[in-house]
Amino acid sequence: MLEEFVPNAGGSAIRLKTGGTSSLSSPRKMQDIEGDVDERLVLPIAEFARVLGGGIVPGSVVLIGGDPGIGKSTLVLQMAMQLGMSIPVLYVSGEESERQIKMRASRLLDGTAALPDKLLLVTETNLDVILSHLSQTQPALIIVDSIQTTFLPEMDSSAGSLSQVRECASRLREYAKASSVSVFLIGHVTKEGVIAGPRVLEHIVDTVLYLEGDAFQTYRLLRSVKNRFGTTAEVGVFTMSERGLTEVSNPSEAFLAERLVNSPGSAISVTMEGTRPLLVEIQGLTSHTNFGNARRTPNGVDLNRLLMVVAVLARRLNLPLSEQDVFVNVVGGLKIMEPALDLAIATAVASSYRDVPVRADTVLLGEIGLSGELRMVSQIEPRIKEAANLGFKRIVIPKRLNNKDKRPTDIEVVEVRTIREALETALTKAMKTNKGIN
Ligand code: TYD
Ligand code: MG
Repeated sequence: MLEEFVPNAGGSAIRLKTGGTSSLSSPRKMQDIEGDVDERLVLPIAEFARVLGGGIVPGSVVLIGGDPGIGKSTLVLQMAMQLGMSIPVLYVSGEESERQIKMRASRLLDGTAALPDKLLLVTETNLDVILSHLSQTQPALIIVDSIQTTFLPEMDSSAGSLSQVRECASRLREYAKASSVSVFLIGHVTKEGVIAGPRVLEHIVDTVLYLEGDAFQTYRLLRSVKNRFGTTAEVGVFTMSERGLTEVSNPSEAFLAERLVNSPGSAISVTMEGTRPLLVEIQGLTSHTNFGNARRTPNGVDLNRLLMVVAVLARRLNLPLSEQDVFVNVVGGLKIMEPALDLAIATAVASSYRDVPVRADTVLLGEIGLSGELRMVSQIEPRIKEAANLGFKRIVIPKRLNNKDKRPTDIEVVEVRTIREALETALTKAMKTNKGIN
């Protein structure tokens, strides 16, 4: 939809000549500007706080994006209920009635704990009314769920349109900066992946978090993609249960919990989510193609990487995969893009094809090159450490040229040059004598 844009003719130059200096900004010495201490609101949900950079900065605007139904309202309601015990919080919903929100809140509390006495709820979509509620109730934090249902009546376009979403967010930002109230905006990611949508808001807000996961899996990742007050490398891990979102403080353990040791087609690797290493299980399954072209079905890994890995296995190791359907799955609903997991993908597929398990105590790391060579991955040390922490005894990694790193003592580091060597050391003995890897 096209919308008229009226440029502000003349603009600031004219104001400068005619206006006095009173309404202008004035440069100040950096030393004289207050705010050198980082005064954040303490957030009791540790995973959430970490992703925000250590709590909520007063006057900041945080956007939480995600697919509909992923748990955004649940997450902010849990936050509002905890903060509402000590500071005034206003939860504005354009999607649910006050009654519905209260019912959800009671269910989250399981009827045992008291409801927070400083949490106000209102169902409202008109931003003018919301702003007047703000000046009346003076909360320290406001949640607007969602930015797509909020509208300014003076604008012609309908709620959820690009201009409405942008203008509403800008108004709320102005309010936040002027009053030091923290604003949380919820934004649905639409089908195309844009949030007339969080994407158009990214430059307006201070922090952008995405809640991700598979609606059918219990894990949820809270990922920071922009943060003026912290690193964007952090990820918080939660599970969704009937009592809302629960923090997972040891995600590696959780992702491996249901693993079947010694079953073919399962390989363990370590992915980095920001600064945090996470052990993940990659599953591979090959099955004879019955009709026409063999299919490659990735779930949680990139299709192109899977195609490349399968091609390398076929060409360099002579695995006849052209007549096999290949499925690869990252357990727990994680989505992994980094090439460091190539080797685990290849091993899972080869293990399934040969019907020989991967050694249960072994972790695999490495990017695969087209000649079947292994390439080094980033942040190798924290990955090795995480594998050791979780009790794995061996880790297979690409050979390092100048290896001056400290060696961990509690895990055997096996350095290999090629995918062939990696498979020889990772797969259980039975296989090599059986069919052998050519
Ligand atoms: P919701 O927070 O409403 O999603 P969003 O605001 O992102 O659209 O969560 C919706 C889903 O979460 C819904 O399908 C039910 C589920 N859910 C639970 O499994 N447990 C709970 O305690 C709650 C509140 C929701
Ligand atoms: Mg919602």
